[in-house]
Amino acid sequence: MLKNIYMYIYIQLIITTKKFSDHIKENIWKTYDCSTVTRTFGFSTIFKMKLFPRANDQSTTTPLKNKSVYELLSLKGKVCAVTGGSRGIGAEVVDAFASAGADVAVFYHSTDISGKLGPLNAKYGTNCKAYRCDVTEIASLDKTVSKIVSDYGKIDVFVANAGVAWKGADILKESNDQVAVEQWKKFLHQDVDAVHYSARVIGRVFKEQGFGSMIITGSMSGAVVNVPQLQAAYNAAKAFVIQYAKSLAIEWVGFARVNTVSPGYVSTSLTGSLPKELKDTWNTLIPMGRSALPKELAGAYLYLASDAATYTTGSNITVDGGYTAI
Ligand SMILES: NC(=O)c1ccc[n+]([C@@H]2O[C@H](COP(=O)([O-])OP(=O)(O)OC[C@H]3O[C@@H](n4cnc5c(N)ncnc54)[C@H](OP(=O)(O)O)[C@@H]3O)[C@@H](O)[C@H]2O)c1
Repeated sequence: MLKNIYMYIYIQLIITTKKFSDHIKENIWKTYDCSTVTRTFGFSTIFKMKLFPRANDQSTTTPLKNKSVYELLSLKGKVCAVTGGSRGIGAEVVDAFASAGADVAVFYHSTDISGKLGPLNAKYGTNCKAYRCDVTEIASLDKTVSKIVSDYGKIDVFVANAGVAWKGADILKESNDQVAVEQWKKFLHQDVDAVHYSARVIGRVFKEQGFGSMIITGSMSGAVVNVPQLQAAYNAAKAFVIQYAKSLAIEWVGFARVNTVSPGYVSTSLTGSLPKELKDTWNTLIPMGRSALPKELAGAYLYLASDAATYTTGSNITVDGGYTAI
């Protein structure tokens, strides 16, 4: 009798274990942290296959085989969109992409760029067009991206570069809470929410197309607290976009790459109005002793946009004259 009870319990245990294992194989990878599950149950192959469906797909690398790396850096035939393309770093990225043969959809907001694209197209034989868009409005982004797809038929590369500097001081300086909260919300709306809105809008396009490369402009301030200026909101916003890009790189691994470029100090209008004494102090802290020209950033974006970077995703390229190396 006791033997039969043991046998019954044993059989029930086997059935339950089998059901549990099937359940894990089918469902748990969707809801739980995959690495914990794989460590615990050793189903790494099953989980990797389900989470990363293109992990072993060679079709993306086959077209690369007969080209030199120099040829892979060409953007000929690609359509690239650049937010904040009207000036500063974005304008140099637009120039670099066009010089490599891309047709560029140039986003502007308040800066008139009507006279700029004619000469650019004449110089490089491209078909770059200007699009007015407020990146803090998801509807404006959606409308603009739809128009670009309708004009060009696709978008290969999207650079979320538009951004503003923190105009406040340390977080306790403003005594009025309401004013401080409004200032905080407005800033984060411009430098964080706008990146998320851009990602949602372009992510849909990339998913539908089955390809794409998103590049977000971060900053060395996402990795270090640069001094002497106090700008917790800016530093935190840039740390956010760097980690956000890494996360999207994993979410989108089946259809698109996502990376960030993190500049150090760059001579643009973002920093142009700041006092000379502050910039002199920066120069003493930068190992190379100077700020970058916007052009010195553009090569990093060109690489990430190109087919030379087909294995690069979830990366952050820092271009800071050695600032974060020490
Ligand atoms: N300069 C630096 O030292 C430095 C260092 C690290 C990171 N960054 C980052 O690099 C990026 C570009 O900065 P930058 O130095 O080139 O600045 P910038 O010369 O001041 O240019 C800012 C760009 O953002 C656009 N923009 C701002 N608000 C917008 C909005 N609501 N909708 C659409 N476009 C908007 C502007 O467009 P309009 O002019 O047409 O309005 C402009 O093209 C930013 O994300 C910044 O945080 C800069």
